[in-house]
Amino acid sequence: MTHDAYAAEYARLRTLAEEGLSRLPLGGSAEPELADMMRYSLLAGGKRLRPVLVMAAAELCGGCAEDALPYALALECIHTYSLIHDDLPCMDDDDLRRGRPTSHKVYGEAQALLAGDALLNYAFELMLSADRPADPARRIAAAREIAEAAGMFGMIGGQMADITDKTDTPERLAAMCRKKTGALIRGAVRAGARCAGAGESALSSLTAYGEGLGLSFQMVDDVLDVIGDSAALGKNVGSDAKEQKNTYATLLGVDRCRERAKEVTEAAVAALSSLAGSEFLAELAREMLTRLY
Ligand code: IPE
Ligand code: IPE
Ligand code: MG
Ligand code: MG
Ligand code: MG
Repeated sequence: MTHDAYAAEYARLRTLAEEGLSRLPLGGSAEPELADMMRYSLLAGGKRLRPVLVMAAAELCGGCAEDALPYALALECIHTYSLIHDDLPCMDDDDLRRGRPTSHKVYGEAQALLAGDALLNYAFELMLSADRPADPARRIAAAREIAEAAGMFGMIGGQMADITDKTDTPERLAAMCRKKTGALIRGAVRAGARCAGAGESALSSLTAYGEGLGLSFQMVDDVLDVIGDSAALGKNVGSDAKEQKNTYATLLGVDRCRERAKEVTEAAVAALSSLAGSEFLAELAREMLTRLY
């Protein structure tokens, strides 16, 4: 797939996500400040990687993006909440996110906590009120993937391992990253596959792909925290050093981390080899590495 074809495809799915997010009826009888805070973080841009993955995986497995959209939007709400909480003073204590002052800097800590909570719960409202895909078993299966990915066995478990420094060996660091970042990325492709009623073989290929992409994505994020440009990233660099975190960058050094991310990416791409029409997902994984150059 050419770079232009890839970029057009990413833009198509990203636009579906952006339009879906901007149409969410955040407001109504809600506390107006709460709805404002939710919109402030949710509609601040971001790569929209996870919703793109949900919809791309659904299409790859023979489903349609529209059916997968509620799960894609729900996952972006959960991801955004995880960022609001990740930036709190009691976590990474950061003041810039998606090019804007972090939620707690604008609204206060308690308010940011609640904005995150509200986005998490809203994600479940979205999924549980979706009337697509038509088969209810697919709806339950997709929602369950996202619930598991977000919770104690996934992202929250990983954040816990991160803050309790269970990252002192390569094995423990990998286990932490697989949960904190990998789980939502793996969950994204699995939820999309579930929307399309994918069989075990496609599901297991996509799972291996998602796990590899999740790991390489965090490696890239760790390197960018050392060598990246705050204005381009829309978030502070040097955050991990400030918090004295063990990361892939501290474990391997920047150069080896780059190499390793490339190897992990190629293994993720190889996991797609039996899936016809997987060129977009393959290119997406490779494109994530170009953030480093
Ligand atoms: C940042 O995620 C947090 C990590 C898991 C490393 P993204 O880099 O996907 O952030 P946005 O959504 O583009 O802002
Ligand atoms: C956090 O990882 C991943 C989440 C679950 C939010 P980081 O702490 O490295 O994410 P950034 O660098 O702040 O985006
Ligand atoms: Mg963190
Ligand atoms: Mg952080
Ligand atoms: Mg980081």
